[in-house]
Amino acid sequence: MKVLVTGGAGFIGSNLVRLLLAEAPELEITNFDKLTYAGNLENLADLPRSRRYRFLRGDVADARAVDRAFARGFDAVIHLAAETHVDRSLEDAAPFLRTNVLGTEVLLDAARRHGAARFLHISTDEVYGSAPPDASFDEAAPLRPSSPYAASKAAADLLVMSHVHSFGAPAIILRCTNNYGPYQFPEKLIPLMIANALEDRPLPVYGDGLQARDWIHVEDYCRAILAALRRGRAGEVYNVSAGRPRTNLEVIRGLLALLGKPESLIAFVEDRPGHDRRYALDSRKFRKELGWEPRRTFEEGLAATAQWNRANADWIERCRSGAYRTYYKRHYTDRRKTLARWRAS
Ligand code: NAD
Ligand code: DAU
Repeated sequence: MKVLVTGGAGFIGSNLVRLLLAEAPELEITNFDKLTYAGNLENLADLPRSRRYRFLRGDVADARAVDRAFARGFDAVIHLAAETHVDRSLEDAAPFLRTNVLGTEVLLDAARRHGAARFLHISTDEVYGSAPPDASFDEAAPLRPSSPYAASKAAADLLVMSHVHSFGAPAIILRCTNNYGPYQFPEKLIPLMIANALEDRPLPVYGDGLQARDWIHVEDYCRAILAALRRGRAGEVYNVSAGRPRTNLEVIRGLLALLGKPESLIAFVEDRPGHDRRYALDSRKFRKELGWEPRRTFEEGLAATAQWNRANADWIERCRSGAYRTYYKRHYTDRRKTLARWRAS
């Protein structure tokens, strides 16, 4: 089975490519990635040489490049490529619309014309918006995205469903909660906090830090993606979650304890505009139909992630060079000024 993986040089994508090569010998994988700031071939440097894997640099929103790639003939598409950071989408939504919305339409169109038999669309829990305190969303919940990032992902989901409805596209949508683990770009909460703590720098906590996220280890999620590729039902939406939301402060305190650093490093900063308070998904449908359960507890996964980031300080340093420094200064050092500018413009 020939599979096109988009975004395979990013965080989840690189973990997925590694898992597919190790555990799915029936698959031949083409990794199609634009290599934006978040895409890094170093994430795949440890892959064994394999005739089952090839890399193709390209942009999912470039219809001609996508068409050329499809000429190789794919049985399935796993579409992960996206602009993914909420804070960046608040600053400039344009690349989010181009990649996440237009890019998804371009891929759906190419998959239809070239007759791909499966299209796995990697969506997010953020499309549902913030969940009330004691509830979790199932797949029938309305889409109420809060940020430009979430809105672009919701638009992509609607395009996928429109292709299912209009053309009988063999598509499946997976909506997952927050992932963590190796090779996560250090703009996201867990790797950013680890990197700062290791250097005894302040840990910037947005607002009161009581927002809740339901963290799932990336290897568990990649196993869920493989299960959906093999056994998911076309036309269905599946939620995937660990099932235990916890507050950002709980996660950060856990990290500080693991790293042997003091809680005095915690620095409360101005909140993210429109910050969703709580994400919580009901994933019973996926668990029951696909027989999937997460294998790692959060405590094990967090300890392993802290250890990985400690052992790969040079990888993090390379991610944080160049444009990252300007980004960090704008979003953290000059936070008040930057947020005031966003509000005024
Ligand atoms: P990431 O930002 O780490 O990686 C994104 C990858 O997509 C990069 O390799 C980048 O180069 C590539 N890319 C971006 N624009 C592209 C384009 N126009 N053409 C081709 N490639 C392009 O993202 P991630 O955290 O690995 O997320 C992967 C997918 O999973 C995304 O669709 C995201 O919405 C979804 N998701 C992520 C999480 C999470 O917690 N990380 C949770 C739920 C869903
Ligand atoms: O829920 C799934 C989503 O998870 C994915 O769809 C997104 O691609 C991914 O980026 C992630 O979005 P979040 O906004 O939840 O992740 P982030 O790591 O940016 O933030 C997690 C929480 O931590 C959130 O409540 C904001 C808070 N936070 C984040 C950063 C970067 C801070 O308090 N301080 C920070 O510096």
